Amino acid sequence: MDAIKLLEWQHDEVDTLFTQYAEAEDDEEKLEVFNAIADSLSAHATIEEKLFYPAVYVGELREQLSDAIEEHMRAKRVISDLIDLEPSDPKFDKKMKVLQEEVEQHVSEEEEELFPIVKQALPKLELEALGELMEELYEDLMASNPREEIGEEAEDEAASVR
Ligand SMILES: [Fe+2]
Repeated sequence: MDAIKLLEWQHDEVDTLFTQYAEAEDDEEKLEVFNAIADSLSAHATIEEKLFYPAVYVGELREQLSDAIEEHMRAKRVISDLIDLEPSDPKFDKKMKVLQEEVEQHVSEEEEELFPIVKQALPKLELEALGELMEELYEDLMASNPREEIGEEAEDEAASVR
């Protein structure tokens, strides 16, 4: 699959999961949907950071890409806070709202600003080949609860700031 189509597909999938979260009937279901969101966002951020961004790192996009990585970091911090909370905690819903807003902003920036430039800059065949690699890595990551990496990453980052 073309790299951009793959990322757009994942954006839609997470959007659907947020709708499911809003409709969840009890805490158990909330936790299940949150885990699915955390896993797909974690794997999504990893394939973007490891494969997509480096492949499309061309002059004028530099600043935009470093903003995107900064946004990933922010979302990961919120996910890491959520991992430490229970859905019965009143803070849980609030943090989910923050996460949803972060993700919506990420999606609109990528789909409206970044992807159109990348489509112009990279040949179709290259986007296809890149997409294959990304899909493979995504599936590998999804096979082992990728959200667990996020807690560790956020902790490493906190330690490096200290
Ligand atoms: Fe994305």
